[in-house]
Amino acid sequence: MVEVMRAEPEHLDGVLELIWDMKDTLLGTHPAHEMAGAEAAIREIVSGNRTTRDFFLATAGGRPVGVAGFAEVVGTDRVYRLSYFGVVPDMRGRGVGGMLIKALEEALKDRGARLLLAEASHEGYAAPARRFYRAQGFRLVATVDDFWQESDDLALFIKRLD
Ligand SMILES: CC(C)(COP(=O)(O)OP(=O)(O)OC[C@H]1O[C@@H](n2cnc3c(N)ncnc32)[C@H](O)[C@@H]1OP(=O)(O)O)[C@@H](O)C(=O)NCCC(=O)NCCS
Repeated sequence: MVEVMRAEPEHLDGVLELIWDMKDTLLGTHPAHEMAGAEAAIREIVSGNRTTRDFFLATAGGRPVGVAGFAEVVGTDRVYRLSYFGVVPDMRGRGVGGMLIKALEEALKDRGARLLLAEASHEGYAAPARRFYRAQGFRLVATVDDFWQESDDLALFIKRLD
């Protein structure tokens, strides 16, 4: 059975292992550098500092199978950015990603969030993510050429939560 929960200290090792296992899709072009940032952020969240961010995980039979976080975009009025969102390959297409987004959105609505941003690529490797965001009610609002790296453009999706 799949369960979605807020990340707590006892989940930290499993969550970090899962993120590292999926580094090619979750951590972009400098995985080792970004992993250090992810670890610091998630460690802070599970130790209780959820002021501007939060982090969720999905488990199946106790095994972490999906992760998703959000962080407030500095300088905005209640705009949040989706981060470290992924489901392990053998569990995709079974609704786990949808459950994680639902949990995130409920937590964000409690905070009065206005907008949720999701950043994807226009390349073929990100086609499932783009289809997923559209199916979840996000709109593609901008493209930034060569954003991730040369010839790999940013596809910026936004969902209104208010
Ligand atoms: C994007 C991602 C997180 C989606 O997670 P997921 O668990 O596969 O998402 P869901 O199962 O909720 O939805 C995906 C698809 O499965 C379908 N689905 C939902 N529940 C289902 C179920 N019970 N059985 C079968 N299919 C189902 C959905 O309709 C959706 O269909 P679509 O392909 O037409 O969009 C996942 O593909 C992933 O980890 N990708 C790699 C990392 C990544 O790209 N992250 C985003 C960074 S931009």
